[in-house]
Amino acid sequence: MRGAGLSFEQAPPVSIPLRFFIAAPFFGMLAALVLIVDGERLFMSRWSAPALTLTHLMTVGFMLQIMVGALFQVLPVAGGSGVRGQGALALALQPLLVGGACALAAAFMFDWSIGYSLSAAAFATGIGVFVITIFISLWRSEAQGATLTGLRIALVALAMTVALGGLMALARAGLLDVAWLAHVGLHVAWGLAGWALILIAAVAWLVVPMFLQTNPYPQRFARGFGVVIGAILLAATAGLIDVVLATLLLAAAAAVFAAVTLELLRRRQRAANNAIGRFWMLGMLCLVVVGVLSMFEVLAPGHVELALLAGVLILGGVAMSLLIGMLYKIVPFILWLKLRNHYRKVPSMNQFIGEFAQARHFWLHLAMLVVLVPAPWWSPLAVPGGILMFVSSVLLLANLVGALRTLRSFKAGVTAATLAATPPNSAGEPQ
Ligand code: HEM
Repeated sequence: MRGAGLSFEQAPPVSIPLRFFIAAPFFGMLAALVLIVDGERLFMSRWSAPALTLTHLMTVGFMLQIMVGALFQVLPVAGGSGVRGQGALALALQPLLVGGACALAAAFMFDWSIGYSLSAAAFATGIGVFVITIFISLWRSEAQGATLTGLRIALVALAMTVALGGLMALARAGLLDVAWLAHVGLHVAWGLAGWALILIAAVAWLVVPMFLQTNPYPQRFARGFGVVIGAILLAATAGLIDVVLATLLLAAAAAVFAAVTLELLRRRQRAANNAIGRFWMLGMLCLVVVGVLSMFEVLAPGHVELALLAGVLILGGVAMSLLIGMLYKIVPFILWLKLRNHYRKVPSMNQFIGEFAQARHFWLHLAMLVVLVPAPWWSPLAVPGGILMFVSSVLLLANLVGALRTLRSFKAGVTAATLAATPPNSAGEPQ
């Protein structure tokens, strides 16, 4: 089956992306527990132990699991070439990423120095093998396009983020000079603007027009976006421009991407009145605010609360909203596609995760944000915010597991119907 230049027959077995998608909500629950248990200390400074713990539970836990799962799914479909040995790779990769994220979170939270070294080793191995394997598969692919360009740059950015993070982790463990910690600005820039933003944009070029029924992104904008961000990051790393200018440019680029997406959503062919459209609108609105806040932070630094607010909006507002919205389209789609390849009459995509379940999750997620946005000024809000975040993660898990159950019960129903329709043989058993 082909559409929009995509080759769906290359899609991987559903168990590969799903194992990553299903692991993600557990990191959301852990991050919520940090908010509930240590919220007061967390909202004192972005550098506090609970703040760094929560940041990494969300980035290398929640976000990385979903994005690695999405990469396994999107690459063969957009690139037309499968990832060689993908089953074995996914099987080996996931324990390394989950173990690395847990070790890093424990290291920050409990000042556990071995945890820093363990996480550096786990991420260096896992992400090293992952990035090299995916690069080989991208190399073999003849397909071109903005999504593949974006994916390539995002992978380089992931490698840079992990390399800088690993070096800083070893410095925190006392194994390297503490001077490495001065690179935290570059680590954050490569991680948030390089890896997260370019990857979200690369996936958006594909899924926003396809799943949210918008017009396509302007071609030159989509092709140039990742390249421009990559160039700014390289210039900052090489010391050609300072981190202040780089942050200003990156923040402006993020805000422009969000504004273009909002405009496409506003003008889309069907009214934006479903939950997924709302998740994406909310994520993009938060991204515009984050862009403006980051520019303000650079020009007038020293506002602790505004920096914390940017963190709430990046992790809760942008990352969670967009990734949950994406999962609620991608998961029903890949399950539907799996059935479609084998059966003629299959459940519709809405039957995997119903509109009511998605809408309920959207309103709860919005309530979580409304409670957490003022928390930098009044930290007791961390407790209700954390509880809402916990429930939001449980809902995500329940909806994903519910989608899998729909697949299983459909297959069980077909098998039962086939058996019932099969005449018994001479031994009285169905053939
Ligand atoms: C891949 C995605 C990652 C992202 C998006 C990310 C993001 C961040 C952010 C935002 C901060 C600063 C917190 C703040 O500004 O409030 C930070 C600090 C830090 N990150 Fe990461 N990180 C990632 C991966 C990693 C990895 C894999 C490691 C280690 C193995 C790591 C180790 C560190 C360390 C040690 C610091 C604190 C540095 C210091 O003491 O100043 N990070 N990271």
